[in-house]
Amino acid sequence: MMRNYVVKCVYALVMLMLLYDDAASIHGEVKKCLHKERHALLTFKHGIHDDVGMLSTWNDDDDCCKWQGITCSNQTGHVFHLNFRASDSQYLIGQPNISTLIDLQELEHLDLSGNYFLGNSISEHIGLFSKLRYLNLSDAGFGGNIPYQLGNLSQLQYLDLSHNFFYGLGGAIPPQLGNLTHLRYMDLSYNDLGGEIPSQLKHLGQLQYLGLSGETELSGAIPFESGDLPLLHTLKLRGDFVLKTKDAEWVSNLSFLNTLDLTSLSLGNSHQWLRMIRKHIPNLSELRLSNCSLFDNDVQFLFDIHSYNSTTSSLTILDLSDNMLTSSTFQLLSNFSSNLREFYLSNNNIVLLHPHYPSFPSLVILDLSSCSLTETSFPMSSTSMVNSSSSLLVLDLNSNLLTSSNIFNWIFNFTANLHNLDLGGNLLEGPIPIGFAEAMNSLEDLDLSNNKLQGDIPAFFGNICTLQTLVI
Ligand SMILES: *[C@@H]1O[C@H](CO)[C@@H](O)[C@H](O)[C@H]1NC(C)=O
Ligand SMILES: *[C@@H]1O[C@H](CO)[C@@H](O)[C@H](O)[C@H]1NC(C)=O
Ligand SMILES: *[C@@H]1O[C@H](CO)[C@@H](O)[C@H](O)[C@H]1NC(C)=O
Ligand SMILES: *[C@@H]1O[C@H](CO)[C@@H](O)[C@H](O)[C@H]1NC(C)=O
Ligand SMILES: *[C@@H]1O[C@H](CO)[C@@H](O)[C@H](O)[C@H]1NC(C)=O
Ligand SMILES: *[C@@H]1O[C@H](CO)[C@@H](O)[C@H](O)[C@H]1NC(C)=O
Ligand SMILES: *[C@@H]1O[C@H](CO)[C@@H](O)[C@H](O)[C@H]1NC(C)=O
Ligand SMILES: *[C@@H]1O[C@H](CO)[C@@H](O)[C@H](O)[C@H]1NC(C)=O
Ligand SMILES: *[C@@H]1O[C@H](CO)[C@@H](O)[C@H](O)[C@H]1NC(C)=O
Ligand SMILES: *[C@@H]1O[C@H](CO)[C@@H](O)[C@H](O)[C@H]1NC(C)=O
Ligand SMILES: *[C@@H]1O[C@H](CO)[C@@H](O)[C@H](O)[C@H]1NC(C)=O
Ligand SMILES: *[C@@H]1O[C@H](CO)[C@@H](O)[C@H](O)[C@H]1NC(C)=O
Repeated sequence: MMRNYVVKCVYALVMLMLLYDDAASIHGEVKKCLHKERHALLTFKHGIHDDVGMLSTWNDDDDCCKWQGITCSNQTGHVFHLNFRASDSQYLIGQPNISTLIDLQELEHLDLSGNYFLGNSISEHIGLFSKLRYLNLSDAGFGGNIPYQLGNLSQLQYLDLSHNFFYGLGGAIPPQLGNLTHLRYMDLSYNDLGGEIPSQLKHLGQLQYLGLSGETELSGAIPFESGDLPLLHTLKLRGDFVLKTKDAEWVSNLSFLNTLDLTSLSLGNSHQWLRMIRKHIPNLSELRLSNCSLFDNDVQFLFDIHSYNSTTSSLTILDLSDNMLTSSTFQLLSNFSSNLREFYLSNNNIVLLHPHYPSFPSLVILDLSSCSLTETSFPMSSTSMVNSSSSLLVLDLNSNLLTSSNIFNWIFNFTANLHNLDLGGNLLEGPIPIGFAEAMNSLEDLDLSNNKLQGDIPAFFGNICTLQTLVI
């Protein structure tokens, strides 16, 4: 009965598909790709080594609308979507000539991110893709300057040029980018950019995401004033800026803000900035204040436990690494957020004199590297903790002052399914307890290097099937 029904369904489906195919070819509704555009794509392919066969469907004699990564308009046959986003295992290498794609006059979407284009510069012809709405050239090994002709792309909504640091996408940010008034997303982070932020960027009234973080050398004044970029939900700034009161006011008035990254801005002595951040915290899901010259009392001011209900805080990522914080911040915050998933505290001075029972019930990543932690920081027996940290997957205790292998027992009792554990650069002595390796049956990366461990490596390490990296 059932089987009969399935057969009928399949039959009906096949008929439908035949009918559809017929109609389409009779009325010529689905256009094939244009000769000129196919030629442009093949010329583009010339500059690329495609070892993994990402372009294996790109052949001279096929309809290029059916090639991988290409989408054509079914009305006109023009290519309007080109997607070559790479993955870890699949990426293109070479120096393709992007100018050859100019013939794709209807192109709206171009994604070449994650490939490896060997320092190729972004062609100034990019300004001719006048229909472009989405341009993603992130993490693709581009070099040279950002061409000012990008300012010609008046339809552009998404511009991602981030992470081209290998060859270094450098120079200044072209003021012409301020002409892109439809832009919602602009990420220029992790490049070699320098100079000032052009004041023209304040015209980007639709902008929701502004990424200017990473190892940039931006400097000078922040050109925005209260009321500029009113729709921003993500602001990532890094540079050697001359901070003024009006800058804090500007950020203070961004009422949609949920992600704030002010890495390396010196905020610790600026009451205006701290007050502004404190005002935003109830709405933030991500806050990064790494290397901001913060002391414990600054953090106490920011996370005033009395000013709002911490159990409903939406904060999931908190980065306070590279400051001057001590254990009192750690204890304050361990009380603070029940939703925290990532907590970075490396390069502080978290000397825990008394055993502390952290309660971060949702924590997935805890980074306490280079925090001067000693053995006494870890309570030696507690069953109540096992549950509280079972969500923890990544624990970084690198470069502390841990001495005895008790830490192995502690981790064994404290965590349930760690994937990454870094204990390198401590003062660990003696053998690795046999039971430890046995218990760590979900580990993927383990670093025990630069210690004084002795004895045999427990054979059990060989039985952890998930293990990918072991540094001893
Ligand atoms: C043509 O494309 C539009 C939108 O891309 C789609 O809604 C429509 O179903 C397509 N028509 C055919 C015949 O494929
Ligand atoms: C890139 O392509 C454009 C347009 O086809 C052409 O004018 C230019 O000479 C090419 N550049 C290189 C380096 O081949
Ligand atoms: C650009 O591509 C990368 C992946 O390669 C992705 O993470 C990023 O979100 C993309 N940017 C935009 C604006 O979609
Ligand atoms: C800007 O785009 C127009 C077409 O929209 C084109 O004629 C012009 O050459 C482009 N200019 C640059 C610098 O790319
Ligand atoms: C683009 O911006 C530049 C510099 O900000 C300006 O001189 C130019 O007039 C603008 N072009 C258009 C078409 O708006
Ligand atoms: C900015 O916020 C302050 C109060 O924080 C308010 O008085 C002022 O009008 C706001 N300015 C703008 C341009 O929204
Ligand atoms: C937090 O969000 C609410 C609603 O989304 C908004 O009304 C409020 O102004 C925001 N707070 C800040 C400090 O921007
Ligand atoms: C911290 O910020 C200062 C500027 O305030 C900068 O010179 C220094 O390189 C930064 N350090 C790190 C580790 O990023
Ligand atoms: C905080 O919020 C939680 C969940 O909404 C609620 O159970 C608790 O009573 C609140 N605490 C305070 C002090 O308002
Ligand atoms: C943590 O919270 C408890 C109860 O809410 C309170 O008694 C204790 O003093 C808090 N500890 C810190 C370090 O804020
Ligand atoms: C681990 O837990 C066991 C009981 O489950 C306890 O006997 C032992 O002392 C604990 N070890 C450490 C280092 O906490
Ligand atoms: C820990 O988990 C076990 C079972 O998953 C449960 O029986 C026990 O009550 C939990 N303990 C605490 C302190 O949450």
